[in-house]
Amino acid sequence: MYPDSKSKSAAFFERATKVLPGGNSRHTVFFPPYPIYADRAKGARVWDIDGVERLDFIANYSALIHGHNHPEIVAAIQKQAERLLAIALPTREEVELAEIITDRIPTIEQVRFCNSGTEAVMMAIRAARAITGRPKIAKIEGAYHGSSETASISVAPSPSAWGDPDAPASVAPAGTGPGTAADTLVLPMNQVEVCRKLIRQHASELAGVLIDPLVKNLGYKPATREFVAMLRDETKKAGAMLVFDEVYSFRLGFRGAQGALGVAPDITALGKIIGGGLPVGAVGGRREIMEALFDPRNGSPKLGHGGTFNANPMTMAAGLKAMQLFDEASFDRLSALGDRLRKGLQEALNIAKAPGMVGGATSMVCLFHSDNQVETYRDVVNSMRTNVQAQARAGQFFRYMLNHGVIMGAPGFFVLSTPLTEKDIDDVLEKALAALREMN
Ligand SMILES: Cc1ncc(COP(=O)(O)O)c(C=O)c1O
Repeated sequence: MYPDSKSKSAAFFERATKVLPGGNSRHTVFFPPYPIYADRAKGARVWDIDGVERLDFIANYSALIHGHNHPEIVAAIQKQAERLLAIALPTREEVELAEIITDRIPTIEQVRFCNSGTEAVMMAIRAARAITGRPKIAKIEGAYHGSSETASISVAPSPSAWGDPDAPASVAPAGTGPGTAADTLVLPMNQVEVCRKLIRQHASELAGVLIDPLVKNLGYKPATREFVAMLRDETKKAGAMLVFDEVYSFRLGFRGAQGALGVAPDITALGKIIGGGLPVGAVGGRREIMEALFDPRNGSPKLGHGGTFNANPMTMAAGLKAMQLFDEASFDRLSALGDRLRKGLQEALNIAKAPGMVGGATSMVCLFHSDNQVETYRDVVNSMRTNVQAQARAGQFFRYMLNHGVIMGAPGFFVLSTPLTEKDIDDVLEKALAALREMN
């Protein structure tokens, strides 16, 4: 049972905190009083260092679309490792992965690879500024886009700092350079008329609008078609770039969120699933934009783009295999499993007469332990983060699932991977119902 002060994970945590602040290298993998340490994994299952087996419903925060150690991906990595690990030359593998991506997402005619979603978004922001010669980037309040400077603005502002709902303040976390907040315009998610007005007010200085069309922190709330259509329209009129961060939302449609929502951004940032489980990022867009920014054949490119491990052959080989395996049939099957989980969780809430809201789309599922529907970051803060009861229920639910063989993302995220079966989903639903009953 977790927590257990005699467990290997608890002991390892003690050892880890001496050399790693918080005992690890990534805030999202910590939960109190100590995180469990992973030993090995296979398919959708993971074993911790105490030998406890659990179903993995995090999938490395969505990156592992095929779960752990898919035999074909492992074979591709092994073959690649024997041939070529890393080299200061372009490779066949990067061309092949670029071909798959450009085939699948029509607005990406050309692509450049890097090593993380953070880097991809950072390059996308610089691209928007370089193309337009303007300073300001608009982003959604509460949206996470990695840890670059502009991306860090207003990710989790407190109510005392967030300002007017019709003109949200630009809240800079510690460590952000001077000027970053002033150059960032903060927009409330899905608020069409408020955002139209703000974009028009700042049009002459606006380089681009950055949007993750499926914000995880808002309970995997997809952007509405009306909202993204307005963003497309207003950015065009303002002469600014529409930048889609599809690092996470590539799971929303076979052709990404942009395919599902029927909108054509100018620049797209990718990451996670396109790397087949290895570190990856990519920025892509129309040929004329990409060539103007990155092509060295016409003198110095507008944007310098180095990176010792950019397009490293190991990631390219793994990503290529993962994307080949994630065909339309595979996408549809995974989305159907997501529907089954969402429907079942809603039924479990009804049967247990428990407060809660089930959200998400395709292979991403969210359970918030509050009845309030959420649209914006402020709704999430009001209904979840400052709601002591909802917080306590989320903690109880997470702990129950952890102790009954399911690891999910706190406070209520389930991310699916292709090795999962209908039976796995039904097992989780049975446990979810038992958890909700016990919590009543
Ligand atoms: C929407 C979005 N953008 C960017 C990132 C950053 O990606 P990475 O963790 O690969 O740096 C994330 C990571 O979770 C994300 O969800």
